[in-house]
Amino acid sequence: MKKIYLMYPQKTGRIAPEIYGHFTEHIGGVIYDGIWVGKDSEIPNINGFRKEIIEKMRVIKAPVIRWPGGCFAESYDWRDGIGVDRPVRLNWWKNSDGKTEPNEVGTHEFADFCEFCGASAYFAANMTSVPPLHIQRWMDYCLSPKGSTTLALERERNGHPEPFNIPYWGVGNENWGDGGDMTPDHYADEYRRYSIVMGNCAPKAELYACGSNAFDYNWTTETMRKLRTSRKHINGFAMHYYCGCAGDPLEFTKEEWTELLKKAARMEEIIEKNWHIISAYGMEDRAKLVIDEWGCWHPGGSGPSKGGNLFEQQSTMRDAMVSALTLNIFNKHCDKIRMANVAQLVNNLHALFLAGGEHCITTPTYHVFDMYKEHQGADSINVTVTDNEKFENSLTVSASFKDGKTLVTIGNLSCTEDAEFTLEAVGMEISKDAEAALLTSDDMHSHNTFDSPENVVPINVDIDLTKAVTIPKNSIMSIRF
Ligand code: AHR
Repeated sequence: MKKIYLMYPQKTGRIAPEIYGHFTEHIGGVIYDGIWVGKDSEIPNINGFRKEIIEKMRVIKAPVIRWPGGCFAESYDWRDGIGVDRPVRLNWWKNSDGKTEPNEVGTHEFADFCEFCGASAYFAANMTSVPPLHIQRWMDYCLSPKGSTTLALERERNGHPEPFNIPYWGVGNENWGDGGDMTPDHYADEYRRYSIVMGNCAPKAELYACGSNAFDYNWTTETMRKLRTSRKHINGFAMHYYCGCAGDPLEFTKEEWTELLKKAARMEEIIEKNWHIISAYGMEDRAKLVIDEWGCWHPGGSGPSKGGNLFEQQSTMRDAMVSALTLNIFNKHCDKIRMANVAQLVNNLHALFLAGGEHCITTPTYHVFDMYKEHQGADSINVTVTDNEKFENSLTVSASFKDGKTLVTIGNLSCTEDAEFTLEAVGMEISKDAEAALLTSDDMHSHNTFDSPENVVPINVDIDLTKAVTIPKNSIMSIRF
């Protein structure tokens, strides 16, 4: 029997809603036939975007969506995506499996999509292949007050007199890799140049510097060393961690279930070590973590398009458990995290939706975001779990408190054994009136398909918090009281 202690007097900080953010890139099936079906489509849409996705994004209270990449952003020219005559370009991200970029979805369309979803937009600016002035002009186009500049008037002629809601801007993407193959030293110099030009024209915008990849702490150290003396305009450090894969996305073994979860759990070490370096340079207030790409990365081909879309993969209960574990880590370390964006929203990597033609289904990961949504904006509570040392049989837990209600989210990392626990509150009474939801399946490989879209969905369960509660193997539970 495990005991979960909720240490109410020990609050870690407020969980920024943006930690529950999303990411969409112009690759594979994310945009075209993913979120976008076109205004003339017979598929129900709002101004060309799948209605079903918009409605479901509202249900999970999606706070922010990153766009247009990823590495795609580093060859993106925003001028291609506005106005009437839009050019067709090469999509240089591995040529996105031979697909070209029609630019049907550009700044106006994407800002609309965010607004329909009730989310803010986070734009990633190209710092590899255009000069800073070009990005400043994009910010002027997007953010200047109605009628105030020539670009604001152009925006108005294109149908949007008022500024767009784009409070967050990334300065480059993966500049240690396909974003210019820069050294940290070079990147930091470039960041200072771009951020002055961008930040001076939009002082309220949050600017995020390109952070490290996974365990590359040298990038963190070297960029912090140089950025600490920059006079202004840095509001976050955008790091990436993909936990990757272990075995087949659908036919994995019990050992591979645990192997992948162990890789995902390393997110905690990455957060702590980066934070240690950021703090050592006194950058805690300016370089909070923006984990703007995270998730599993299985070999492609298991999704509905069977390899027709770059990086499209199916998503099982194991991927849902990676989500539960990762979001619990984020909640626990919310004092260090400004934002996080799961990669990606539709038909790509750790997706919440799989779509194609008239089909559109949610993955088990979507349901985790639904079960966790009330953590957004809540105070994170410190949690201790007894008898939790053996990873294979442990529970991942986080808890938060908002508007007089506690939300506890629990994942049973064992794929062989149910677990029993009691909830113990320190500094608060636990009320008996609890609502609980359970995402579960006898089979850890369970997933949703176009033919069986509700194979894995949460169910409401009755629990009595004065007694021990059972959480089945490979299951995720949310309890609210
Ligand atoms: O999410 C897919 C790709 O992964 C992105 O383009 C890039 O930023 C990362 O390497």
